Amino acid sequence: VHGYVEVDTLRERVESGRWTDMYADEFEVGAALELAVTLLDWRAREQPPAVLSLAEAWGGHSEAVCEAARALEGQESDEPMYGAPDREFWPLGTRPDLERAGALVLDRFRRRLRDGMGLPAKVAMALSKAAFELADNAIQHSGADENAPAGGAFGFQVEGRKIAFAVADRGRGVLASLRTNPLWSHLGSSAEALSSAVRLQASRRQRGKGYGFQDLLVALADLSGVLRFGSSEAVLLCNGHGAAREWRNRKRRPLAGFHASFTIEIQ
Ligand SMILES: Nc1ncnc2c1ncn2[C@@H]1O[C@H](COP(=O)(O)OP(=O)(O)OP(=O)(O)O)[C@@H](O)[C@H]1O
Ligand SMILES: [Mg+2]
Repeated sequence: VHGYVEVDTLRERVESGRWTDMYADEFEVGAALELAVTLLDWRAREQPPAVLSLAEAWGGHSEAVCEAARALEGQESDEPMYGAPDREFWPLGTRPDLERAGALVLDRFRRRLRDGMGLPAKVAMALSKAAFELADNAIQHSGADENAPAGGAFGFQVEGRKIAFAVADRGRGVLASLRTNPLWSHLGSSAEALSSAVRLQASRRQRGKGYGFQDLLVALADLSGVLRFGSSEAVLLCNGHGAAREWRNRKRRPLAGFHASFTIEIQ
């Protein structure tokens, strides 16, 4: 299964005009979403990269990338209500969509973790709730108007003892959203904005702190895995769990929106 190294490399090569064929296989849901966002953005440009069709064919080898792209374009999966899929993508719409259709998808995720994987009910619930928080954030913060969010999608995958889930939107990104609050208007980069939001409880809301990311980190505290947050050219990575968390910053080619993804290994 391919991850971010390949997506970052591909984006770098295409945009610097150094495409050479790369081996394409299957992608993790978060990487699939980032690649799908990238392909949609390239396609929407007035002057798409010369090798766009090659890159699209490359991504088209991956079912996850195709499913992610369909969700980003607003197509719902046709999973039955009580299905137990190993992987599912879902298009983010408005807040009422998230509370109705979206809640059913998140409930499938929860049941897949509890019944299919045998996770304690509390842990399965916490992971599903964490995914809800991220989706809710995308709806509330991706656009200038909460009632008109930028498009995005949510995805999860369960494979053996591995769980992955991710949310990606194509909106204004974390720097633009935080800067609307005078308290945070001094922020100078997406990297700063990203760690302020994720680690320091910065919020664009005037009333003070944000609790979404905080709750998410608490929910994941006893699980080991990798958390990846990305916005524009900034990537924030976290390894390990609880007090032993290690944070790292990375750079990538700018990509519109906010992207969060989690890969968890259950012992
Ligand atoms: N998808 C996103 N796009 C742009 N900015 C985002 C996105 N998600 C989060 N943010 C920024 O990160 C901040 C912190 O998010 P967090 O979920 O921790 O708190 P909140 O959403 O502000 O409040 P709460 O979750 O407690 O209702 C948000 O206020 C927003 O500025
Ligand atoms: Mg929030």
